[in-house]
Amino acid sequence: MTPLIILRYPDPRLHTIAKPVAAVDARLRKLAAAMLETMYEAAGIGLAATQVDVHERLIVIDVSENRDQPLVLINPEIVWASAETRVGDEGCLSVPGIYDGVERSTSVKVHALDLDGKRQAHAAEGMLAVCIQHEMDHLIGKVFVEYLSPLKRNRIKTKMVKQKKDEERESER
Ligand code: NI
Repeated sequence: MTPLIILRYPDPRLHTIAKPVAAVDARLRKLAAAMLETMYEAAGIGLAATQVDVHERLIVIDVSENRDQPLVLINPEIVWASAETRVGDEGCLSVPGIYDGVERSTSVKVHALDLDGKRQAHAAEGMLAVCIQHEMDHLIGKVFVEYLSPLKRNRIKTKMVKQKKDEERESER
């Protein structure tokens, strides 16, 4: 399976609001498998469908050390988020090479469908809680750099545009 193409910030498609998944069927399972493979290939810990230009509420995550605990959340909803927050450095496969602090709830409770279409409840804390919040933001068209100051965000935007141009020039040689 060829890895999917990951959209890069500031691609406007990253700001699309995803629609709920209508059916957990063979097509959806195939998409989830391709997203997991793409995430592992890129050495990421999470990927939202939005990032591969599919605008449906689907995210894949694996925060395990051995990269052997894939989690697929379909139509995820955060039903509870702790008032306690923490600022931690985040990165994103759509914003390669950029890491910066974002304030997130330290624990969350999430309801989502699994690959069998069954409703599951997940309680998450630590890195998993942060990752779920980050990926779910993608589904509403939000990239983590939007939590940063306009100054920082503009610097990142400029850097990303330049990086892309350099890569294009490189590939033309
Ligand atoms: Ni991301």
